[in-house]
Amino acid sequence: MKFIVHTYGCQMNVRDSEALEALMVAAGHEKASCEEEAQVVIINSCTVRQKAEEKAIGKAGNMIAAKKTTGMMGCAVKRLGADIFKRLPGIDFAVAPRSFGLIPKILSDGVFPRLELGDDLEPGSLSAHAAEGAFSAFVTVLLGCDNRCSYCIVPDVRGHEWSRPAREVLAEVKSLAAGGVKEVTLLGQSVLRYGFRNDPWKDGTGARTAFPRLLREISAVDGIERVRFTSSHPRGITEEMLAVWRDCPQVCRHVHLPVQSGSDRVLREMGRGYTRAEYLDAVGRLRAMDGGFAVTTDVIVGYPGETEADFEETRTLLDEAGIDNSFIFKYSPRPGTRSAALPDSVPKEEKERRNQTLLDDQERRGLERNSALVGTVREVLVEGPSKRNPARLSGRDGGGRIVVWDAPAENAPKPGTMAMIRITHAHAQILKGEKI
Ligand code: 5AD
Ligand code: SF4
Repeated sequence: MKFIVHTYGCQMNVRDSEALEALMVAAGHEKASCEEEAQVVIINSCTVRQKAEEKAIGKAGNMIAAKKTTGMMGCAVKRLGADIFKRLPGIDFAVAPRSFGLIPKILSDGVFPRLELGDDLEPGSLSAHAAEGAFSAFVTVLLGCDNRCSYCIVPDVRGHEWSRPAREVLAEVKSLAAGGVKEVTLLGQSVLRYGFRNDPWKDGTGARTAFPRLLREISAVDGIERVRFTSSHPRGITEEMLAVWRDCPQVCRHVHLPVQSGSDRVLREMGRGYTRAEYLDAVGRLRAMDGGFAVTTDVIVGYPGETEADFEETRTLLDEAGIDNSFIFKYSPRPGTRSAALPDSVPKEEKERRNQTLLDDQERRGLERNSALVGTVREVLVEGPSKRNPARLSGRDGGGRIVVWDAPAENAPKPGTMAMIRITHAHAQILKGEKI
């Protein structure tokens, strides 16, 4: 059958959708080139905020109305359980995040409606990969999350933390590299906790060194030029990690280090496990090693009880930390989380105002930080023609910054190759340069 997968949410979902596509093709199905052509539509859902969940549900509703065989996978399914059939009458199947490997079998069984909420990982679903011809790939290294941040539904829907065996990860990276992949991004909710709950090396490698060792071994794989990972926690910025950045040029000097708030009071209520000073200290150690180390973050505005003074502390923290890019989220109470029991006290308009203020701050700070890079030469992994102007090529530097430059069609570098670009202009979200 011809199928299409629509993906909402984070990179983990993007990876799972790619893996599902590979499993579907292996089972004899064909990827449709557009929605109209597809007989089967699978929606990979997110539930981290109510809006995210509603988007996925809305899309599934449209697909049911269009008489497609419709299935949903991912985080919203786990949260809703059997209620999904009330929210989406007529949906054919729904599977939790660790069960998407069952979808080909569900389709061949053809018994609808069907619900799979299991916590056991389906064999093959971790390593399945649709990376044919790609030069960049996601690799899952850590499943689930055992942190208990007050606002977050992820531990409820993604299950307990579990580190994937290191040899399996390495074998996957080697096979990706053999297929032409140059850049891998290692994924986990809190990826620096690799090896804390189980020993992925199975030889007594301690928790503090399990992830640094993985990074070193992946860096040594032939053909791998860049290693990225996400997301990180300030407590994971250890001496062992700093040594990896010093020793392994393949490991990008970029961390996505969600801060959520700059107010110690709010951080404590959220249960984040660090103070403002500790966050700044972690960033300071990275920048002491390399002043150009890129740090990006996530922030929640309008957490219950967040005062104007708390919010101002967030603003100053982002400036003091010199955050290169930030993703701002308006607080959304999620059923069953600790903070959902608190009154959602910050009015909608005020959340909107704080959101906009941080976006404006980011524009200013992004421009300032990018301006400091004018005149420097960046090593850029070429991605392809720029979306806005196809006469230009676009790629990313090691910090994940988007770099564009004019490229005459003849002898332009190919996607997946490295180019040295001298930066000539800075914008808040983008660097422009010329090839040298
Ligand atoms: N409301 C708003 N934003 C949230 N996030 C997680 N839970 C919530 C919530 N209940 C944000 C955090 C996290 C990102 C993936 O989503 O900033 O880092
Ligand atoms: Fe959304 Fe979180 Fe699930 Fe990712 S893990 S899809 S962000 S709920």
